Formats: sequence, structure tokens, C-alpha cells
Amino acid sequence: MSDRAPDDEIARLLAAFRDESGRGASSRAEFERLKGRWLGRDKGLVPELFGKLKSLPPGERAGFGVRANAAKTEVEEGIVRLGRALEASEAASRDRAAAVDVTLPGRGVRTGGLHPITIVRRRIEDIFLRMGYSIADGPEVENDFHNFEALNFPPDHPARDSQDTLLVDREAASPLLLRTHTSPVQIREMRKHGAPLRLIVPGRVYRKDEVDATHSPVFHQVEGLVVDQGISMADLKGTVAAFLEELFGKGTRTRFIPTFFPFVEPGVDVSMSCIFCGGSGCGKCKGSGWIEIMGAGMVHPRVLQGVAIDPEEYTGFAFGLGLDRVALLKYGFPDLRLLFEGDVRFLGQFAGVA
Ligand code: PHE
Repeated sequence: MSDRAPDDEIARLLAAFRDESGRGASSRAEFERLKGRWLGRDKGLVPELFGKLKSLPPGERAGFGVRANAAKTEVEEGIVRLGRALEASEAASRDRAAAVDVTLPGRGVRTGGLHPITIVRRRIEDIFLRMGYSIADGPEVENDFHNFEALNFPPDHPARDSQDTLLVDREAASPLLLRTHTSPVQIREMRKHGAPLRLIVPGRVYRKDEVDATHSPVFHQVEGLVVDQGISMADLKGTVAAFLEELFGKGTRTRFIPTFFPFVEPGVDVSMSCIFCGGSGCGKCKGSGWIEIMGAGMVHPRVLQGVAIDPEEYTGFAFGLGLDRVALLKYGFPDLRLLFEGDVRFLGQFAGVA
């Protein structure tokens, strides 16, 4: 006979379980500990209860067994409930962690933007596309023939000097070089399509220049070429004037000054009235009221002949301008290097410009 009343022991055990499980489990680890303490196969309080069965007088065993089974069921059900409650509170705290606090101040999203050279290039392309021009391009690694010879540069012209031109292969039949201007595409297009023609060529060009505020060994040009019957200097002047007014604003005036380029005759330096002072003279135009903006001229008859276009039947004009310089003037920044250094403090200011 046991020295404790077995019924009391079951009652005490259940009371302790109700008390403990009533407090709930605040973590998964605490739940597992509790479950092990009550139902664990080795030393669990409930299995231990059944271990006592053997030491009871046979007459008490059946009654004890029934009560012990009921206690076991209650504990098991209690543990299941605790487990469910724990899962619910875990889910709730997951939700809380994932929730968005709409009262927090927002983090700014920075918008990407186009590079100023791209903005200016597209603007110029738009203007000429509206005038019925098409857009052409050509290789940046050119040969001497297209870059110089077919453009009527004599063999000893100073621009061919290796001081200015970056050579790629001087041994080639027509030496390979990085094109020094976009004009070689004039030759390629005229050879490919003949006349009439009306096109622009935006592109990258190279010269052996030291980097400073106004020079870079890599820069950008837009070439223009029109070849048709009856094209005159007046067409060139009208086109350039209309273009510059579109690009720099109404009232921009245009001035031609004679100059020399081997592939045009006559050749001109095109200036426009100063966009900073309107022509009255300021620091930017060095007091002259004019800013040089492009080179141009009537396509040289020898150039036309060289590409099998009859200069008696067709005439044409060509022009070339620097995109980097246009960006510099249009946006009023002082140093070309800003365009190539990739500093987002500078470039970020162009986001949303176009
Ligand atoms: N290719 C010349 C340059 O790079 C510019 C130019 C183009 C001049 C077309 C006249 C006609 O300086």
C-alpha cells in the first residue's frame, strides 16, 4: 500500500498542470520544455504516474488507471492548446515585424537621367529629323583614305601629323587611325548612296590633345551633309540659322566668316550672337558679342568627283559642330571635364531635363 493517497496525487498533478499551462508559453523553447516535463517519455510527470500502477494493490489499480488516463488526456489536450496559442502569437509577431509603419518619413528615390551629351544629341537629331534629314553613322576606327585623302587633305596637311591623329596601324595600305572628325562619314555615305543626300552624323571623335577645361582627346561632333541639284550657300546659311535659333532660342543671329577646310570651297567659320549677353559683349564672348559654334562650307568639287558625283549636276553643303561645346554653352558650365568624369553631383542635375 502506498503511503500517499494516489487520488490526491493525481489531483495535485492536475492542479499543478492547470496552473502552469494557464500561464502559457512565451517562447517555442519554453513550450518544448513544458511539454517534455509533462509528457516526456523517460521522466515526464504523466508517464511516471503510470509507472506507479505496479506498486499499487491490485484492487486500486483499475480505478487509478481510469483517473490517470483522464489526467493524461487533459494534459495532452492542454499541451495541444498551448501549442496552438504559441503558433498564433508567433504569427502575430511575424505580422507585426512585417508591417509597414506608414508614419515613418519616406526615403527619397533618385531618378536616373540622360547624360547632357545625350540630351543635346537627341535635341539636335530632333531638329534635323523635322527638316527631313536622316541619321547616319560610321566607324570610329577609320582609315586615312576616308578621314583625309578623300576629303582632299594634301599628303602633307598638318592635321595628318601624328601629333594630332591617334594612329592604330600605320603599316596598313591606308593607315588605320581613330577618326579625327565625323567628316569621313560624308565620303562613306556618298559612296554608298550617291546623290541626292540629306543627313546628319552624330559621333565620337579623337585627337591627340591634353585634357584641360576646353580640350579632351575624345569628344563629340555632329556632321551635316546635303547634296542635291541647285544647293547654294544661301541654303547653308538658311539651314544653319534656322538650326541655331531652334537650339539656342529665337533671336539668335548667325555670322559667316571665310576660313579654310580642304573639303569645302568656300569654307566658313559660323558664329552666333552671344547667348549670354545677346551680342552686346561680355566675358563669355570676350567682348565680341559672337561665339564660334561650327565649321561649314560648300562641298569641294574634288570631293564630289572622288565619290563619282558630278559637280556640274550636283552641289552640296556640309557643316560640323562640337556637341560637348554645345552642352557647355547651353547649360553654362565652365569645364569640359565634367562631361567625362561621371560625378553624379554634376550629372544628377540633368535628371528630368529631357
Ligand atoms: N570636320 C571639321 C572639323 O572637325 C568641321 C567641318 C565639317 C567643317 C564640315 C566644314 C564642313 O573641324
